[in-house]
Amino acid sequence: MTQDELKALVGQAALQYVVPGEIVGVGTGSTVNKFIDALASMKDRIAGAVSSSVASTQRLAALGIPVFDANAVGELSVYIDGADEIDGNGYLVKGGGAALTREKIVAAQSRRFVCIADASKRVEVLGRFPLPVEVIPMASARIARQFAAMGGTARVRMAGDTPLVTDNGQHILDVTGLEIREPLAFESMVNQWPGVVTVGVFAHQKANVCLLATAEGVQTLNW
Ligand code: 5RP
Repeated sequence: MTQDELKALVGQAALQYVVPGEIVGVGTGSTVNKFIDALASMKDRIAGAVSSSVASTQRLAALGIPVFDANAVGELSVYIDGADEIDGNGYLVKGGGAALTREKIVAAQSRRFVCIADASKRVEVLGRFPLPVEVIPMASARIARQFAAMGGTARVRMAGDTPLVTDNGQHILDVTGLEIREPLAFESMVNQWPGVVTVGVFAHQKANVCLLATAEGVQTLNW
């Protein structure tokens, strides 16, 4: 099975977690795009979606799925999103698509976080994937020095010749060389550094369910 087919498999499998009649939280990325495409098949049976990025909003809208402002709705029953890394406790690294801040907001607004990914995302220790951190641009060099003091190397994510600008008007640092053995403490610590908008460790907003696509089918992990 190709990577694309594996993503389509979990995108389809995630439909079983969508509660009919309700608003569903929708993440960002190529795996979520498969979920959005599958969601279109039941668009008449849901109230709509809260989206975590401009890209997902556009895809949902193009398929005729109403998108609500997060402030206009209450708690959501479920949030469906991908990940860059998933450990054995449901702790995640996210932000490969630069949408981590809004993703964490929608995850926090949801009772259940269902993570969808192919099996290559499963790791023993978080940190192999460069850790995305959304930062206020004037603080990026100092935050990079704070990571260097921990043994990490932080680089500003570029879009061509200029720094990539997120949906929130901020920049992304991608940090390599870290082993995140205590995700809860690490997330709390980095989030307190001045200028950090959001660190891409999702430990306080971890996954409750993970649907992992393998060549043998979809494996379900529950926490
Ligand atoms: C976007 C994310 C994505 O969920 C993550 O990067 C996985 O993306 P993909 O499904 O394309 O591998 O965190 O900010």
